[in-house]
Amino acid sequence: MSLLGNSDNIYSSVKDYYGKVLASSKDLKTSACTAAAAPHPIIRKAIESVPKTVNDKFYGCGNPIPLGIKGKDVLDLGSGSGRDCYVASALVGPEGSVTGIDMTDEQLETARESIGEFEQTLGYTPKLKFVTGYIEELQKAGIEPSTIDICISNCVINLSPNKKLVLTGVYQALRTGGELYFSDVYADAQLPDSVRKHDVLLGECIGGALYIKEFEEMAQEIGFAHPRVLSISPIAVNDKELQALVGNTKFYSITYRLFKTDEHDATKQSDIEATYLGTIEGHEDRYELDIENVFEKGVPETVSRSTAAILSSSWLSGFFSVDETSNTDSGLTALPSSAETLINQLRRLEQQNSSASGGCCSTGGKQGGCC
Ligand SMILES: C[S@@+](CC[C@H](N)C(=O)[O-])C[C@H]1O[C@@H](n2cnc3c(N)ncnc32)[C@H](O)[C@@H]1O
Repeated sequence: MSLLGNSDNIYSSVKDYYGKVLASSKDLKTSACTAAAAPHPIIRKAIESVPKTVNDKFYGCGNPIPLGIKGKDVLDLGSGSGRDCYVASALVGPEGSVTGIDMTDEQLETARESIGEFEQTLGYTPKLKFVTGYIEELQKAGIEPSTIDICISNCVINLSPNKKLVLTGVYQALRTGGELYFSDVYADAQLPDSVRKHDVLLGECIGGALYIKEFEEMAQEIGFAHPRVLSISPIAVNDKELQALVGNTKFYSITYRLFKTDEHDATKQSDIEATYLGTIEGHEDRYELDIENVFEKGVPETVSRSTAAILSSSWLSGFFSVDETSNTDSGLTALPSSAETLINQLRRLEQQNSSASGGCCSTGGKQGGCC
């Protein structure tokens, strides 16, 4: 029996949009699918090595590929033409693996046809494959439970009519210590049917935008640790007709990190110190776990129990030393803030300083900028 229920029209509308309506990213009508801030230079270099046909059909809204993933098993939900899979494949190297899953044949065809060319560029045969399937039915598509270290996704979960099923499936597919590191489109309010059911708004990742509050609650209900926000960028809906439909609702591209760890007691303050060892290539001086938790190499920071659990038991554990301590002076012990709180901080800052510029949020946190 299919888990997809009676949402056939949504799936066929989305397949049609990505398989037939759009020929390349130039055809998009909003900035939702291309709102990504500049990627890290290592990612940028990897993107440059990706075949042009793949890059031309990139419809992502962020940069959901962490560094330091050599040898890891990666899954990309809604891999599209495959750009992020190709990039991740270069980062995981010959020992790691990357699987992209998508439901649209045309996208999968583009993704698959350049693997040979990319193999020449890499100089080894990557464990890279693209499977046909729905992100709501990972197991049916051959993704077994507890086989994935890092699940990435770029502007896709918003398109699913059953987001809870997607997150639950990802939770099952992840190994303990793994994470869902993904960029998607979020709204600061519940959307009316006129927006949710509009074919173009849906296809452009606006109609299905996740309501921030609901998403964060859902993730924790499923079992993920407290959601961590890595970046926030506003999305512009410039088309007049579409603008009239969305009204005052604000949309954002947010990159979240959802860890699958055994320890979820985020409320308990602790006497635990974590020190970043500076061993992730590309993050030699500092590591940004999220907007509010930024670690300078070699500088011990007192962290919350939830952060300590992530740094000592997730795939990041080899990059940090985590110790019990009696010192509780640090600013990193608080719970991670909801994206809603961070956006409100951003708005207040903008009001206070109307001359402030830039698209990405600056929360006034330890490092200031977030994108
Ligand atoms: C906005 S595009 C993003 C593609 C890719 N992540 C990128 O960054 O270029 C959305 C992709 O998700 C796929 N998709 C949407 N809903 C899906 C679902 N429920 N199951 C599988 N694939 C889905 C679409 O076919 C499309 O290729």
